[in-house]
Amino acid sequence: MEQVLEIKNLCVVRTDGVKFFPVLNDIELSIYRGEMFCLVGESGSGKTTLALSIMRLLPKSFRILSGKIILCKKEITDTNENILRRLRGNLVSIIFQDPGAYLDPLFNVDKHLQESFHGKQEEFHELKIKTLKEVGLEPEILSSYPHQLSGGQQQRVLIAMALINNPSVIIADEPTTALDVLTTRQIIRLLDRIRAKYNPGMLFITHDLNLALDTGTRIGIMYRGYMVEVFRPQEGKPLHPYTRILMGYSDEKSSDILSNETPQHDRKTEKCVFFERCPEKEEAICARKIGFTWRNETTGIRCIKHERNSQV
Ligand SMILES: Nc1ncnc2c1ncn2[C@@H]1O[C@H](COP(=O)(O)OP(=O)(O)O)[C@@H](O)[C@H]1O
Ligand SMILES: [Mg+2]
Repeated sequence: MEQVLEIKNLCVVRTDGVKFFPVLNDIELSIYRGEMFCLVGESGSGKTTLALSIMRLLPKSFRILSGKIILCKKEITDTNENILRRLRGNLVSIIFQDPGAYLDPLFNVDKHLQESFHGKQEEFHELKIKTLKEVGLEPEILSSYPHQLSGGQQQRVLIAMALINNPSVIIADEPTTALDVLTTRQIIRLLDRIRAKYNPGMLFITHDLNLALDTGTRIGIMYRGYMVEVFRPQEGKPLHPYTRILMGYSDEKSSDILSNETPQHDRKTEKCVFFERCPEKEEAICARKIGFTWRNETTGIRCIKHERNSQV
């Protein structure tokens, strides 16, 4: 298995110039060539921040405090913007949630593809036609402007822009949220076909666990800036109490737990982040610092009660 993305102990904060607010804490993640890794979490759990960290496109008020981001064996945590510009597209590209907001209204599709393309100019013509075909668009669309396209077509253009340099990692951040159910299904099928054919590591971000269970080879569950579990849906039931609540395996109803106001989590106490909501907590063992434990190369958990049980 070729690892195309590795994240170690990543901590990201947001700052207002005076204080730091933690957004991502000790994130551990690895993505392998050809897999569909689905990242799931409530709104505000840090999914987009993680995607933007990998792209090194975080807004100015965010800062990577510590940790490593490694793309195809190159560490890019501190790489400067000039080099990053080349790496984006060639090694990693991203498909955003709202294609309408991302596409430039003054550029036609041809120009968008041209701007995204990093290869030799003489190869561009052939490649753009091939890439459009790959995403289910006709060459005639090249002269169209974003406002002339449907939401589904706009998202296909964005996918073509992400695909044109054949990157090793493709991130899709809630790519179907702005689309209707039918178009959503088509776009998911398209992404999966691209994954199977071109073999990138795909990081698919969604707040929809059922969609992730249908689509993902592995699933990562985020809770309030922490990765709490990484599991394979085909290999038995997950163990983290939060994942089990989300999946309906717990006596607790997810609607009861999740509709309530998110409890305050005092990071200084170093209690488990899920402590306040956890139906399985035991004061004696859970009120202490808990790290993410890899069970094997691809699955792991951040729960002291289950890290030992989950050893295989
Ligand atoms: N523009 C912003 N201004 C202030 N806080 C932000 C902003 N964007 C994100 N955050 C903070 O970062 C956290 C993670 O947000 P985000 O990564 O967008 O989560 P997700 O994509 O899972 O919904 C949020 O809880 C919020 O506190
Ligand atoms: Mg988001």
